[in-house]
Amino acid sequence: MTRNISDSADEIICPCSGTTRAKIQSLFEEGLDIEAISRRTGALSGCSGCEWDILEILKDLSER
Ligand code: FES
Repeated sequence: MTRNISDSADEIICPCSGTTRAKIQSLFEEGLDIEAISRRTGALSGCSGCEWDILEILKDLSER
């Protein structure tokens, strides 16, 4: 699968909250949905510029 964003776990997906890809992945694995992840991390509660990236990450994880 081709991706144009880095797959590094330490990559900050949401600069507003400092949420990393690894954090999103671990919360997804705990069974949290995007709203719960947002409440837990603060992601999507600022500019919402990370929304597309987070949706893509969750989509990828749920397709694994
Ligand atoms: S980058 Fe996530 S809310 Fe701004």
